[in-house]
Amino acid sequence: MCGIVGYCGPKNSTGILLDGLKRLEYRGYDSAGLAIQRSGTISAVKKTGKIQDLRAVVPPTLAGNCGIGHTRWATHGGVTDLNAHPHLDASGKIAVVHNGIIENYVQLKARLVAEGFVFVSETDSEVLPHLISYYYEGDLEKAVRSALRQVKGTYGIAAVHADEADRIVGARYGSPLVVGVGDGEMLLASDVTAMIAHTKQVVYMEDGEIVSLTPDGFVMTDIHDKKVNKKVDEVTWDLDSIEKEGFACFMEKEIFEQPDSIARTLSGRLDAEYATGKLGGLNMTSRELLAVKRVKIVASGTSWHAGLVGAQLIESVARIPAASEFSSELRYRNSVVESDTLYFAVTQSGETADTLYAMRELKRKGARVLGICNVVGSTIARESDGGVYTHAGPEIAVASTKAFTSQIAVFYAFALMMARMRDMSFSAGLKYVKGLQSIGEKVGETLKQRDRIQAIAKKYCHARDFLFLGRGLEYPVALEGALKLKEISYIHAEGYSAGEIKHGPIALINEETPSVFLVPDDSLREKVISNMKEVKARKGPIIAFATEGDQEVAEIADETVFIPKIDELFQPFLLVVPLQLLAYFCALELGRDVDQPRNLAKSVTVE
Ligand code: F6R
Repeated sequence: MCGIVGYCGPKNSTGILLDGLKRLEYRGYDSAGLAIQRSGTISAVKKTGKIQDLRAVVPPTLAGNCGIGHTRWATHGGVTDLNAHPHLDASGKIAVVHNGIIENYVQLKARLVAEGFVFVSETDSEVLPHLISYYYEGDLEKAVRSALRQVKGTYGIAAVHADEADRIVGARYGSPLVVGVGDGEMLLASDVTAMIAHTKQVVYMEDGEIVSLTPDGFVMTDIHDKKVNKKVDEVTWDLDSIEKEGFACFMEKEIFEQPDSIARTLSGRLDAEYATGKLGGLNMTSRELLAVKRVKIVASGTSWHAGLVGAQLIESVARIPAASEFSSELRYRNSVVESDTLYFAVTQSGETADTLYAMRELKRKGARVLGICNVVGSTIARESDGGVYTHAGPEIAVASTKAFTSQIAVFYAFALMMARMRDMSFSAGLKYVKGLQSIGEKVGETLKQRDRIQAIAKKYCHARDFLFLGRGLEYPVALEGALKLKEISYIHAEGYSAGEIKHGPIALINEETPSVFLVPDDSLREKVISNMKEVKARKGPIIAFATEGDQEVAEIADETVFIPKIDELFQPFLLVVPLQLLAYFCALELGRDVDQPRNLAKSVTVE
C-alpha cells in the first residue's frame, strides 16, 4: 500500500527520499512523487510508474535539506500523475503526502469548494493541503491539528510548508508512521525499511499523535496539543536483511532463508529439559493457560493458512478445540466471545486493517487477543494483549513465504506447550522437540530440489488452471500453494481438500489442467493415492510431492518431487517450501514481476 518518507537535516534530501521510496517499493504502488522545500518555495515532482520513472523526471538541480516523498496505491481516483502525491494547496506553499482514506472527503471538499478552493485531482487526500491552508496562520503544526479535527477516516501524513524551513509535521491515525532519530537529522516514514540506511533509532507513533520534526529533534503531541513522552527503540536488524544479497529477487532470497528464519523463530522457545514449548510474551500464567477451553485464530491470506495449520495442530496435539477464521468475516459477524476462549491475531506486517479491526472488535467484547506478528512495533503487536514475535526478519517480496513457516513454527511451539500442560507425556514431548529442532536442516535438504522444480515449472507454466490438493495438515498447505501460484504468476489456481474433488472440482480435470498432489508418507497417504487415481483416470497431469523413495506415487504421477522423511506432524514445513519454489519458477518463466505482482500490496491497510 502507500508509503511515506520524509527527511530534514544537513544533506540534500532528494536522493535520500528517492532511495527511501525505492525501499518502500515492496509495499506495492502505482505512482510516486516528492516535494522539496528550498528558499521559501516547494518544488514537487510526481509520476505514475516505478521509482526509476520518477527518478528520470526529477531535475538534477532539484535539491533542498527538507522534503517528503510518497508511493501511491490508488484507491480514490485513477493512476495518473495528477492523482499522485504530494498534493499542494492553491498557493503551492503547503505539500502533503497521505496514506489511508479520508471518509468524509466529499463533505469536506464541498465546504472547501464553497470557500473558493480549487481542486485538481480526483483523490480524497487533496482535501488535506486545502484544509491545512484554510487553518494556516504561521504555524504548520497548529494548522495540521485543526485540520485533522475535521477529518474522519484513517491517515498517516507528512506535511511541509515553504515558509517553515527544515520542518516536517507528521500525524498518525490508523496508518503507521515511524520517526527516525539521526545525528543532526530526522526522518519520518511509514515503515523503518525506508530509513534503516540512516538510523536504527526509531520512535513508533500511536494513533492520535502529531509530530513536529526539525534536524535537532522532535516534539510529539496529541490531538489536544498535550506533549507526549516517547521511548526511542532500536531496530535489531540491519541493511543486509533488506538487500537481495546475490539472489535474483527478494522472494527467492526469502524462500532460501527459511532454514535460518525458522531457527530464529524457535530459538529459545523449545525447552528440552521439560520437553515443552516456551513462549514468554503471552503474558499469561500457567493457570490461565490451563483454563483455556478453546482457541480461535483470526488472520488474512497466507496468515490465515498458517492459522488453519495452527488450529489443526492445537486440536490434534493439545486436544483443545480450535478454528481459524478470516478477519474480514469475523469483524462483521457478531461473533460470540467466551471468556475461556483464547484468540490469536496472526499477521506478518502487523498492520493488516482487516485483522486489526477484527482484533479491536474482539477486545471490545472482552476477549483476550494475542498477536503472532513479524514486524516489531507494528500496530497489532502493540495493541494485542501479549503475543509472540516470529523474528523471520524483514519480508520484502509481496508474496509471503518465510513469514508462513515462522508463523506455523510458533503454533508448533504453542501446541506443544499446551499439550504438555495436559496429557502429552514427557517422552512424546521430547520427540516433538527433537522433530522441531530438525526442521531447519530438513527444509535445507528440500531446497536442493530447486532444479527439479524449475524444470517442472518450465513444462507446466503455460497451463491455464492448476489444482492443489492435500488432506489433513496438507490441506491448508494446498491452499497456500494455490495462493502463491495465482498471486505471482497470474495462473488461475484452486486449493482443495483432495477428498473433496469428487464433490465438484473433478469436473475441471482434463489433459491441460495439472493437479498438484501433496502425498507424503502419512496416515492419509492411501486415501490421497485413491484421489490421484481418480484424476489419472480422467487424463489429468499429476505433479506429486511425496516422501523420498515412494515409488508407488512416482508410478502414478507424471512428475514427482521427493521431500525428506520426517514425522508426519512436521510435513507442512517441507511441503510448503517446494510449492513456493514452483510458484516462483512459474512466475519467472512467464516473465512476471515476482516481487511486486500486479494489483497487490504488501501491507493491506485498507478494509
Ligand atoms: C500472500 C500475502 C497476503 C498476506 C495477507 C495478510 O502471499 O502476502 O495474502 O498474507 O495480506 O497479511 P499480514 O500477514 O501482513 O496480515
